[in-house]
Amino acid sequence: MSIIIKGLVLQRVDGVCLLGPLDLSLAPGDRLGLVGESGSGKSLVVQALFGVLPPGVVQAGGSVTAFGTRMDVPSPGRDRIRGARLAWVPQDPGQALNPHLTLGEHLALLPGIHRNESREATLARLAPLLDRLRLPPAPAFLNRFPHQISGGQRQRISLAMSLSCEPELLVLDEPTTALDPTVQREFMDLVLELQRERGLGYLWITHDLGVVSAICDRLVVLYGGEVLESGPASRLLSAPRHPYTARLLEAARRRPAAEAGFLPAPQDRPEGCPFQPRCPGVQTTCAAWAPWQGSPEWGVRCERPLQTAQ
Ligand SMILES: Nc1ncnc2c1ncn2[C@@H]1O[C@H](COP(=O)(O)OP(=O)(O)O)[C@@H](O)[C@H]1O
Ligand SMILES: [Mg+2]
Repeated sequence: MSIIIKGLVLQRVDGVCLLGPLDLSLAPGDRLGLVGESGSGKSLVVQALFGVLPPGVVQAGGSVTAFGTRMDVPSPGRDRIRGARLAWVPQDPGQALNPHLTLGEHLALLPGIHRNESREATLARLAPLLDRLRLPPAPAFLNRFPHQISGGQRQRISLAMSLSCEPELLVLDEPTTALDPTVQREFMDLVLELQRERGLGYLWITHDLGVVSAICDRLVVLYGGEVLESGPASRLLSAPRHPYTARLLEAARRRPAAEAGFLPAPQDRPEGCPFQPRCPGVQTTCAAWAPWQGSPEWGVRCERPLQTAQ
């Protein structure tokens, strides 16, 4: 396994638990999806993985390792992995681009740091990739600044930057939320092609179960900072066992109107299962945490799962 997250616990500085304990692993070639609605802790998982937790959030337990190097502990080895072997496509590409740098300068940043490659050499090497991303590799385009191109193009520049050092693993944090459906589809197809060609492994984060069947083999369902269910995507989508997974599926089919209730703030979460206040099958025993049933790769945490295990 190239990424191993073990027993990760994240807290707010006031001691309120935000995430975990979380176990998660990812290997090259893996197509793993992390799903859950807004506020579940998906982006915190990414930040922990890259060792860049925001102020106000501390790691209270567990470990995060990539390619055998701890990512939650500063080291030169960690700096060599970030952006090179393990790359990140952020949630908001506009935010990730610097208004003072041209697109060409953006693309040359990571290869300059990790490979000591000149801008000319990087742009020549990346020309076929830019072509496939339908970004003109010509100076007239590469000399532009981020605000001079469309949102979809900024997204693709951001993806090209993440791929610029030919990473083995990619983390995509809701990369298509800002895109219209056609561009979203193109973006997904391109990442899928690269995955097949290069054996790239990815962790794709989304709150939309409607798209995961096309892009993921394995799913982890996160709610209120807890993993409620995990397993093969085809199984979770056809026979969800946690009522929350079932609710997400309904919402994906019928659009957000089906989503009754909301995720409580971290300090207001109930003891036991975080989904209790919204669960149609809630019972008194849900106030105590049901033990995880199964392996970390395939299991559920529920007092009364919807279907029996295979
Ligand atoms: N810097 C922070 N300080 C305090 N709480 C935070 C901070 N960042 C995120 N949180 C809280 O952690 C929870 C998970 O956030 P996040 O990982 O961004 O969710 P998601 O990406 O699933 O929408 C939320 O309740 C959020 O309010
Ligand atoms: Mg997020």
